[in-house]
Amino acid sequence: MFLTGLHLVRSLGHRCLPLLGRKGILRRLANTGHDERWHWVDRGQILDFLFATRGAGKRLLDFGPGDGWPSLGVARFAGVVVGVDASARRVEVCSQNARRLGISNAKFVHAPAGTPLPFGDATFDGVMAASSVEQTPDPKFTLRELCRVLKPDGRLRIGYEALGVYRNGKEREIWVLGIDDRTCRLVFYDRHIDEERADQYGLTLAMSRKDVADLLRSEGCPCNYEGFTVDLLERLRPRILDARACTLRHPCGRTLAEWLTEAGFSEVIPSHGGGPFAGRLFSNLPQERRPRSLEAVEDLLAPLVKAVIDMPAPIDTDPMITAVK
Ligand SMILES: C[S@@+](CC[C@H](N)C(=O)[O-])C[C@H]1O[C@@H](n2cnc3c(N)ncnc32)[C@H](O)[C@@H]1O
Repeated sequence: MFLTGLHLVRSLGHRCLPLLGRKGILRRLANTGHDERWHWVDRGQILDFLFATRGAGKRLLDFGPGDGWPSLGVARFAGVVVGVDASARRVEVCSQNARRLGISNAKFVHAPAGTPLPFGDATFDGVMAASSVEQTPDPKFTLRELCRVLKPDGRLRIGYEALGVYRNGKEREIWVLGIDDRTCRLVFYDRHIDEERADQYGLTLAMSRKDVADLLRSEGCPCNYEGFTVDLLERLRPRILDARACTLRHPCGRTLAEWLTEAGFSEVIPSHGGGPFAGRLFSNLPQERRPRSLEAVEDLLAPLVKAVIDMPAPIDTDPMITAVK
């Protein structure tokens, strides 16, 4: 599985940094408010999935839960959550996370990519999909499957990584993930925004993140995509433990809305997202007015998120989308 930019930050936090670029993110990570703000965003997004699917007390499907998101967050409010993932390892991790968190109403199922979902027609009240549909070999087939397993009037809430946010300078990036003191992974992103696709190359190196940064510095190479010249990569070759390449489709909101209609959904509603809203609310509230506990944050956010997700958003901003069967 290749991690996408947002997903990386959320799941790996401080262990994952873009290589000396993306100063904004580096600053945010260095800032002590970072973690707290991300908790708000996370809660806002979980409430978004819950309310948009009308999921309270219901049977929900989470397509591509990764390490259990949003399933494990939403499970507290749902009847049952089933997560289906194409990676057997991910399914194992989700199940372990559920056990560790004492969540008994979430179960996780493995379904190889490109195969029909292992569920009958009209078996779920709602479906959640976070940064996952675009990772499948045939996203249109996936959307048809998600529509098939939804009950009539059921709702799919979908978040996706459109590439528009990378326009004007962030089309090509390198991320360096520290795996341990001796190993790191380089991820090269080459995004073709107008073609709605991203080529991604992953190299696992027998070097630490610091070794990579030191090497670039000593070679006088810029710390960005262009800094990794063919010559430098040749010299890194003996340290390469693993190399992978893939191309992902990254539909923009408009394309995804078309695909959802083609897949059989009767209504497609782009609307504002609970996660970004919660992040903005956090930033706009003076510190002394921010609730101290996550439960209180949730109480504050719940009615607001419910309202926000009903507010239509322009499709060209690539917003969250609710699709009604
Ligand atoms: C970027 S991760 C998102 C994980 C999680 N939803 C999140 O937002 O943190 C994409 C997930 O989709 C899963 N996935 C990719 N193709 C899939 C397929 N055809 N069927 C089911 N899951 C798939 C991957 O294994 C991975 O766990």
